[in-house]
Amino acid sequence: MANILGIGIATLDIVNHVAAWPAEDAEVRAQAQDVRRGGNTTNTLVVLSQLGHRCRWAGTLADDTSSATIRDDLAQYGIDTHHVQQIPGAHAPTSYIALNVHNGSRTIIHYRDLPEYGLDAFRRIDLRELDWLHAEGRNVASVTGMLQHARQQCPQLPLSVEIEKPREHIEQLCGLADLLIYSRHYALHQLGAEAPTSPEAAAGAFLRHQRQRAPQAVHVCAWGERGAYGLTADGELRHSPAFTPAKVIDTLGAGDTFNAGLIHAQLAGQGLTDSLRSACRLAGDKVGRRGFHGLSSQSLQESS
Ligand code: ADP
Ligand code: FRU
Repeated sequence: MANILGIGIATLDIVNHVAAWPAEDAEVRAQAQDVRRGGNTTNTLVVLSQLGHRCRWAGTLADDTSSATIRDDLAQYGIDTHHVQQIPGAHAPTSYIALNVHNGSRTIIHYRDLPEYGLDAFRRIDLRELDWLHAEGRNVASVTGMLQHARQQCPQLPLSVEIEKPREHIEQLCGLADLLIYSRHYALHQLGAEAPTSPEAAAGAFLRHQRQRAPQAVHVCAWGERGAYGLTADGELRHSPAFTPAKVIDTLGAGDTFNAGLIHAQLAGQGLTDSLRSACRLAGDKVGRRGFHGLSSQSLQESS
């Protein structure tokens, strides 16, 4: 069991299960609705906690009822919210999600006006008892300061950073992490019109480019139903296929679950190929179920 701190967001997710993404100006009826906590880092922590780790979350919340729902959910998974900054009079970030009942695809409209977690609050956290620090690549200036501070205070502490969306100066986080986890969306955006059509060639080209930028790190990119690619410290490309369940039900947070699986495997000392496989196995189990509840070490077994 490891002590893990995650920095990033929590949201309220309003998930409408629909037959298809509606046409503009249409009115459609959802077949079902879930209202649940979401947000990349807290999703990852909820999975890590079910894998047996002691998790803490550093992020912001408001003082509204949605924030209370988020806190209750995190408490249910034993996630320590001691470091949370509560902003009076603000609103919890909210995502309005259409989940396609036929293929589990998710389309997200996200709204937030809540300030991000600040560097001053982060500096007050005692990092000495941590085994891992994971950060979402957002509010780049503050996260840069946080990673620099962590590096200075605890040079041996492994640092992972998720880079999901192109944001101004986000590449400056790369040089500060040991493990960089990119989304396919980010990779394709970076490759632009030159992107090779095969996933393997595209992921390979992107990861090699990132390695030049940050040779100290392991670089990984999840690629949806094509699994995931990674580049070893020696520059070898590794791949794991996806583990597709009998029915894909809910892909919301598949990437966040993948990140949890990868961190868990790296903490266990697994090599990159095995780590990618474990992470894809866990994410494959997730896409076959609604939400994250019930994911466990069993989801990592070869027979699942
Ligand atoms: P995100 O949720 O950030 O869009 P991805 O779509 O890349 O992330 O998915 C992350 C991981 O989840 C993939 O590497 C894969 O292992 C798993 N996954 C995603 N979609 C599917 C799918 N349709 N079938 C099986 N596994 C999937
Ligand atoms: C899934 C997710 C949702 C949230 C949105 C925020 O990866 O974290 O739970 O609404 O992304 O961008």
